[in-house]
Amino acid sequence: MSGKTDHLLHSLGEKLNFLAQLGVDFVFVEEKKSRKSDFLLSLHEKILRCRLCPLADRRENAVPGEGHFDAPLMFVGEAPGADEDTQGRPFVGRAGQLLTRIIEAMKFKRDDVFITNVVKCRPPDNRTPSKEEIEACQPYLLAQVEAIQPRVIVTLGKVATDFFVPVDVSMSSIRGNFFEFGKILIMPTFHPSYVIRNEGNRNIKKLVWQDMQKVMSVLGKK
Ligand code: URA
Repeated sequence: MSGKTDHLLHSLGEKLNFLAQLGVDFVFVEEKKSRKSDFLLSLHEKILRCRLCPLADRRENAVPGEGHFDAPLMFVGEAPGADEDTQGRPFVGRAGQLLTRIIEAMKFKRDDVFITNVVKCRPPDNRTPSKEEIEACQPYLLAQVEAIQPRVIVTLGKVATDFFVPVDVSMSSIRGNFFEFGKILIMPTFHPSYVIRNEGNRNIKKLVWQDMQKVMSVLGKK
């Protein structure tokens, strides 16, 4: 190394040390970010090849989830349906269209948040996933949550709510209340499919919107 390069590196090192002492750690943040995206991308690949439970035999595609790796807000549903199984993407059917409208009404774009499910493969005939299927898939969602560290997770319906807040109460009584999952806040609300099934009942839509407004307040969107 020439004397000039040596001098430049030395003075750069001194500057970085000085900035680090001031608490400026952008260099390290960049490195952390790329480690995070490497981790999440390799997890994504693992999910696509997963054979941990019998749902793998009948799926067209596993559906790992999608969105921003630094999302402050995450939505967790139950399991992919037929449209999601075909496309390999979460919430793209009718319930997904409603979820996208909710996200946009919350002043986010779909790309700003992270969307996934408790179970990553479609259960036959859209039945509720079994305890064994949920247990087999559990490490994937936990790893996604741990890596992304959103500020808030909205759990859509009972299966997702039970995953984070395992108490034996109805959605009607639990929804609209924040729960803690480590440093993350969990907000249970009704599943968009339930809202669609009860389209005539305006009160359900109103309650979901009330729940989302609480989330918006926490995230500075109100
Ligand atoms: N319902 C879910 O719970 N998840 C999806 O991805 C689609 C519909």
